[in-house]
Amino acid sequence: MSENIYVIGNWKMNKHLHEVTDFFDQFNISLHDMFASDNSANIEIGVAPAAIHLPQLSDATNFSLVAQNIASEENGAYTGEISASMVAEYSRYVLVGHSERRMFFNESNDILIKKIMLAYKYNLIPIFCFGENLENREKGDYLSIIKQQIEKVIFPVFSSSVFLNQTLIVAYEPVWAIGTGKHASPEQISEVHDYARNLLIDNIGNIKGSVPILYGGSCNSQNAKSILEQKNVNGLLIGGASLDVDHFTKIIQIAHGLS
Ligand code: 13P
Repeated sequence: MSENIYVIGNWKMNKHLHEVTDFFDQFNISLHDMFASDNSANIEIGVAPAAIHLPQLSDATNFSLVAQNIASEENGAYTGEISASMVAEYSRYVLVGHSERRMFFNESNDILIKKIMLAYKYNLIPIFCFGENLENREKGDYLSIIKQQIEKVIFPVFSSSVFLNQTLIVAYEPVWAIGTGKHASPEQISEVHDYARNLLIDNIGNIKGSVPILYGGSCNSQNAKSILEQKNVNGLLIGGASLDVDHFTKIIQIAHGLS
């Protein structure tokens, strides 16, 4: 089992600079208060703002920065892209394979493999997202979809021993639960997380440390506790509820209580 509980906010394409500043003015005070009484908690807090705001937050101390994306090419004539090496100047983690990137930007498995390898090259820790859509869930073939998503991207990366010393984080984000207010039940989450855990152990069991498995999809302060209590849930990846500083802090407090 991984030791840390991860609580990561994915802000997607939200917040202007003044809103980012307001959020962190309050957030830093709340975190300071929370950890002043107990700084022994095994909790890793992350925030993924829009890339343009990463430099603004690079002196963060109580939490880590997460990039929402990196380019799949290393450098050169790719107008509008931001490379892994540029992002790594500010960020510790990077999301790879989020369903919104797969859906709206046609990111294929080959692209995701390249992004993970570039992340490692520049010392970024990838958070690889996977999850079925509503049709797969209703048809009942979601586990085979999840297996394919993991085996087509993660296994090729770790098929050579080059990356075995690297840290990997994965996140189960059922597409039907993202932004819908309809989170997966603890039983549904548990089934997929147990399945993913076994798949990873059976196939890349020689990776350094155990792979934290996060859950994302309509997480909020009401459901955070019951989700985090599941055996193979090592943290949360939170969209909408992370935009509000009070709400996000409340979720962190819940995780802090369990850590
Ligand atoms: P919501 O929490 O808004 O459902 O978004 C989840 C997500 O996509 C996090 O990456």
